[in-house]
Amino acid sequence: MPPDARYDAVAEFYVREVGEAVDAADTAAAALFELLGDVRDADVLDLACGQGRISRELARRGGRVTGLDLAGNLIESARAAERAVPLNVEYVVADAGSDGVLPPAAFDCVVCHFGLSDIDDLRATLRTVRLALRPGGKFVFSILHPCFPGRGSEIASSWQPGAGYHSEGWWRSTARHSRIRQAVGANHRTLSTYVNELIGSGLLIDRLAEPPPPHTWLGIGGSTELAPTFLVARCRPSPVRQPGQRPRS
Ligand SMILES: C[S@@+](CC[C@H](N)C(=O)[O-])C[C@H]1O[C@@H](n2cnc3c(N)ncnc32)[C@H](O)[C@@H]1O
Repeated sequence: MPPDARYDAVAEFYVREVGEAVDAADTAAAALFELLGDVRDADVLDLACGQGRISRELARRGGRVTGLDLAGNLIESARAAERAVPLNVEYVVADAGSDGVLPPAAFDCVVCHFGLSDIDDLRATLRTVRLALRPGGKFVFSILHPCFPGRGSEIASSWQPGAGYHSEGWWRSTARHSRIRQAVGANHRTLSTYVNELIGSGLLIDRLAEPPPPHTWLGIGGSTELAPTFLVARCRPSPVRQPGQRPRS
């Protein structure tokens, strides 16, 4: 079954919510760019690029950028920004998990900012990432931390309240400040699922960061205690396994 382009129906709302550029308060984006390092003259794929705010920042940092997203309406918004201020970013509407969506070994870096929990087929998407990376390349992604407990009825936890951390799957939040998760929901996966799927796909974690929440979250929900909030990881393609080959469990 083709994946559901849930963002198409809410594209205007989403662009308004996140803005055109990377927010200075976005601690996860800051960690993502730090783990990514220098992208000058690198071929960079922005996977699940949405309306292209990360793609544009990568291009400003000197990368040759391709942005890929399932939601045609968000890609249309990204292309409009490219026409207004050309940065040579190429945008593609596609399912990250579909076979042969990208040429093999075409990218030095693959970046995915808050995309993996929107993607329904993680395994197929990680296979795409692994195949798209050149030897020695980097896959850097950020997600809401799978262990984020939320802030009561104000900010959504990673898992569905009442179902619990171990209950994986797509759910839609009603938390007041989590407007995007009210609109499009999210896939909760445990930390071990993410790590095991990366390993199974031949993507080995070589650096992690757990940035604190943005200052704009402080005080929301009455709590000032910091829990795991975001997870940012850098992975390298495993040199020993053939693309697509999975280890025995
Ligand atoms: C939270 S948005 C993040 C967008 C962008 N990275 C940003 O930071 O603004 C998640 C994105 O994942 C995209 N997405 C969901 N499933 C996808 C799939 N199977 N293939 C490609 N993109 C997908 C959605 O369309 C949406 O644009």
